[in-house]
Amino acid sequence: MKHLLTTNALSLEEVRMIIEEAQAFAEGATWQPEQQTFVANLFFEPSTRTKCSFEVAERKLGLNIIPFEVNASSVLKGETLYDTIRTLESIGVDAVVIRHCEDNYFSELEGKLKTSIINAGDGCGHHPTQSLLDLLTIQQEFGHFYGLKVAIIGDIRHSRVARSNADVLHRLGAEVVFSGPEEWFDESLLESGKYEEIDQAIATSDVVMLLRIQHERHDQDGQDGKEAYHKKFGLTVEREKTMKAGSIIMHPAPVNRDVEIADELVECERSRIFKQMENGVFVRMAVLKRALQEGGKVNVNHHQKWP
Ligand code: CP
Repeated sequence: MKHLLTTNALSLEEVRMIIEEAQAFAEGATWQPEQQTFVANLFFEPSTRTKCSFEVAERKLGLNIIPFEVNASSVLKGETLYDTIRTLESIGVDAVVIRHCEDNYFSELEGKLKTSIINAGDGCGHHPTQSLLDLLTIQQEFGHFYGLKVAIIGDIRHSRVARSNADVLHRLGAEVVFSGPEEWFDESLLESGKYEEIDQAIATSDVVMLLRIQHERHDQDGQDGKEAYHKKFGLTVEREKTMKAGSIIMHPAPVNRDVEIADELVECERSRIFKQMENGVFVRMAVLKRALQEGGKVNVNHHQKWP
């Protein structure tokens, strides 16, 4: 794996190896390349968690981060994405992390660049590192995926997280169900799981994964108000009481409190929302290490435990 563009392109063996490596980092392992290594983070869309946790991961791995602000770059003069990355490659950048508003922005780059590309989210398409950190969180909780029921609830059609998770969870043997407004369901996901009514989905799942309404990707906001959405499709305090013993709440965040989830549930005992963010650093360390090693850029020494 030189690039990491989608979860679909990862074999289950590769998924397991990344999760294992991330868990080792979570337990204190460390690894740094022997030679000077440069990375750049190109965020064409806003981000807090993904951008900052990639940066923490890069610093923990001792990588040199080349500052890149889209709005202060030659992108504003019309430079294409390919020319931007080709430029960074020419000056010695070994890996780029990209978030972009266009679905599959990377299809025009594939096979043309030596620099490793790590997808940090493409439009409504894919968010592989979010999916991997979700898997790490589920693995830590249950120790397996096979037979778990995972409900993905909310703005499914516009969610790259839903798409990435549905694919890989289904392949790992979990039962995936989708819920929320039926008009926001995406039939292309039927091969990974079926649509289920909200109360049933919440009461019978091991993992209740909520999604933000992505207003920025809706042509118009034809939905009811926030309060009405919360009542109809949100994880209310009443619905949480129906959840199975031992089941957990997840959300990729940012969270709209009192819309998809009640304010008081964001940090309740079942919630793993901030654990997911913590795991994001370890997963991104594993993904960066793998991309740099398999791209032939750096030494292939295995990580070492902290002394
Ligand atoms: N979950 C996630 O991708 O959050 P950010 O948009 O803040 O990176």
